[in-house]
Amino acid sequence: MQENYVRIFDTTLRDGEQSPGATMTSSEKLEVARGLARLGVDVMEAGFPAASPDDLEAVRRIAIEVGNTKDVSLPPVICGLARATRNDIEKAWEAVQPAARPRIHTFLATSEIHMQHKLKMSRAQVLERVREMVAYARSLCPDVEFSPEDAGRSDPEFLYQVLAEAIRSGASTLNIPDTVGYTMPDEFGKLIAGIIANTPGIENCVVSVHCHNDLGLATANTLAGLRAGARQAEVTINGIGERAGNTALEEVVMALHTRNSSLGLTTGINTSQITRMSKLVSNYTGMAVQPNKAIVGANAFAHEAGIHQDGMLKNNQTYEIMRPEDVGASQSKLVLGKHSGRHALKVRLVSLGYSLGEDEMDQVFERFKLLADKKKVITDADLEALVSDELYQPYELFSLDGLQVACGTMGMPTASVRLRDPSGNLHIHASIGTGPVDATYKAIDSIVQCPNTLQEFVIHAVTEGIDALGEVTVRIQGESVVKSSMDAQKEVDQPVTYGGYGADTDIVVASAKAYLSALNKMLVASGRYGDPEKAATEALFSQ
Ligand code: KIV
Ligand code: ZN
Repeated sequence: MQENYVRIFDTTLRDGEQSPGATMTSSEKLEVARGLARLGVDVMEAGFPAASPDDLEAVRRIAIEVGNTKDVSLPPVICGLARATRNDIEKAWEAVQPAARPRIHTFLATSEIHMQHKLKMSRAQVLERVREMVAYARSLCPDVEFSPEDAGRSDPEFLYQVLAEAIRSGASTLNIPDTVGYTMPDEFGKLIAGIIANTPGIENCVVSVHCHNDLGLATANTLAGLRAGARQAEVTINGIGERAGNTALEEVVMALHTRNSSLGLTTGINTSQITRMSKLVSNYTGMAVQPNKAIVGANAFAHEAGIHQDGMLKNNQTYEIMRPEDVGASQSKLVLGKHSGRHALKVRLVSLGYSLGEDEMDQVFERFKLLADKKKVITDADLEALVSDELYQPYELFSLDGLQVACGTMGMPTASVRLRDPSGNLHIHASIGTGPVDATYKAIDSIVQCPNTLQEFVIHAVTEGIDALGEVTVRIQGESVVKSSMDAQKEVDQPVTYGGYGADTDIVVASAKAYLSALNKMLVASGRYGDPEKAATEALFSQ
């Protein structure tokens, strides 16, 4: 590995998914994992297998499929997180073992506040546990990563001892987390430099950085760590993660890419896949990306002020430090229309980074034709919304078969909804509400009967113009499920939030689709209809 190569360790499926509201189904996790492989991440942390049997199974599926993929020259390392206990380490190993390049990532807190109040362990006990558990992980798996949790607030001298112990016990990647996003970039850079200078054996290991964004400094801290000699960055798509999130993959990668001449560091990321991944993760989690978010926000490449537009027309580089196409955010306007054929659509989708199978192409082409009847010009943004709405959806237990609303100032907003249930039967219900969306959601609730709380509803137009497609993301909270908590070494009841996405030229239809997509995820997770994904796969093979 070259001295200036930075390994990108993506933890969207672990630290990202663990954040409130970012729950994904197993199939969605697999789809994200495939996308991460296409993006070219070096390592993907696929989950925390000890959390629940479902989490273990999801990581195992990723290890089998993505961890052995032939679609890329070298399959990514598949990593599972484990607390420093035998049980967690065994579960992590069971999950990642099928991958061509498995990794166990184990961690134990080293700050006084965590050791005293959370772990109730002395420094000597922490050192002993690290020695034992890293050695145990290493006895199972040839690639072990160790993290001293809350390193940002730990005594550096103690960190050197703990890390040296982890190295002696067999860890080859030492990850330094700023768990609570407390440090300043200069402090974090010094911490990394100090670790590299003072930890015996570190010269044969990879030093990694893992920063949280509580003070909005995650990217700055990560870059400071890399400048000080770290060569792995732990990141998530769109920066999702606990509280204010993790370091955003797109920010670190594009900073290294754009400022290569001053930083001199490279990655193996295929940057043209960034926008697509951002959209995928946003749709699956129901967590909308803020319009002014660096790199992937809707306005990241928009120029509104007249003076900027004038400069841009004269020379792009006046106000643009990256080209939209570098991150797969094409700006082209007139793309396709009513008379465009299947081939033209396919070519355009390929240039946007989608390689769809024949069945998927058929589905998207059908939707494309319907849209082209309503909308004169179809842009890349429309195509992306269409692909997301058509293909990136959870297993469809209930589907929308018809919707009619009456609303305005003259009467009660009323919605009549027709849904098809998992057995193929149609159900119709009409409800009134405070507005058309409320009435629609009430009618859906009456049919589906799955209690939940709507936590977030975001709607926006995909493009300019009155005929634009509307995109809706929702998040709903359902009942609690029992999971192993990462902090407390015990089982806890955690309320689960599900995200949903829908797109349509009719925004009430888009709203209904988004709500149904979240409800379907919740129903699949509840097991009320068995395991429909498994049943569908079995049916396919028994034909
Ligand atoms: O933030 C953190 O400390 C973590 C560790 C488990 C690496 O996510
Ligand atoms: Zn973290």
